[in-house]
Amino acid sequence: MWFASDNTQPAAPEVMAALAGANAGHAASYGADADMARVTAELRAVFEAPEAEVQLVATGTAANALALACLAPPWGAVYCHAEAHVNSDECGAPEFYTAGAKLVPLAGEHGRIDPAALDAALAIGRGASVHNVQPAALSLTNATEAGTVYDPDAVAALVALARPMRLPVHMDGARFANAVAGIGCSPSELSWKAGIDVLTLGGTKDGCLAAEAVIFFDPSRARDFGFRRKRAGHLFSKHRFLAAQIEAWLADGLWLELAARANARAAALGRGLAATPGVTLAHPVEANAVFARWPRGLHKAALAAGAEYHLWDFDATLDGPDDEPLLARLVCGWSTTEAEVATFLAVLSSEME
Ligand SMILES: Cc1ncc(COP(=O)(O)O)c(C=O)c1O
Repeated sequence: MWFASDNTQPAAPEVMAALAGANAGHAASYGADADMARVTAELRAVFEAPEAEVQLVATGTAANALALACLAPPWGAVYCHAEAHVNSDECGAPEFYTAGAKLVPLAGEHGRIDPAALDAALAIGRGASVHNVQPAALSLTNATEAGTVYDPDAVAALVALARPMRLPVHMDGARFANAVAGIGCSPSELSWKAGIDVLTLGGTKDGCLAAEAVIFFDPSRARDFGFRRKRAGHLFSKHRFLAAQIEAWLADGLWLELAARANARAAALGRGLAATPGVTLAHPVEANAVFARWPRGLHKAALAAGAEYHLWDFDATLDGPDDEPLLARLVCGWSTTEAEVATFLAVLSSEME
């Protein structure tokens, strides 16, 4: 019953087989490998973006921070949701790699930026003088940190607010595959067609060992990415092993198949939790994560039965009254089984009887 994170699951067998396959003979280093040429062509085809510039790194934090560094100067303001990973979970990497840009956290229900909050922040930005950071970029996370998604219309609505100020738009797509699979749209509809300029496409949470693609739909914005990646120590010499992962992950739509599987498990978990007395969902389940509240006593029972998940209120502990509701985050991955979901729900229901 592993629901702690999609990072806790193994890499997909297809990806591991590709890594073993890539481990033969010599290959050009630092991204000049033949695998990378195929990955670039494949991602351009998948995204219907023949001009796109594609680069690989091994972590989502590097992908986001280096991408944002290409969009925002040191005196820039990057607008994002208050709970965005770039704002709250990257140890200041975006600020570090942009050499000081300020992340401006915005409110919004269920992990999605409220357009009114963005509008208000941009209005302040329009009045910025030499004493203030200058509006530089908008960053959206899809799927969001609350397990919800922005559909193409929601993305386009936020982009429309940023465009008059010529702000480029970044999408943290650590779970982009889950968002596409959840919405049922095409990758291009949820990215450049909705106005996204740079997408960090996450493979790691969806079956890769460690591989993320940074896709610049406007290649001119990628001009200094190569230097930034090298300077940051994120240019892999044995780059073929990054490329081999992404190539196998994309092949025959595996990336979307794995994401759809994770989403289906989360949907079943969400439905089961919503039907369990004493449990309330905190957010709609639209991708592969479930956020729900239930009493502390029930958490103790679930954890004692071997369930792995995180209490999501920062100050939540198991010490305290048994009837106090505590928020939990449960994440499903490509390897989560129907049996794990069923066992977990059975544990909770039996405790509530
Ligand atoms: C939404 C989101 N973006 C980016 C990341 C960063 O990934 P990494 O831990 O590989 O740096 C994560 C990781 O949890 C994430 O959830």
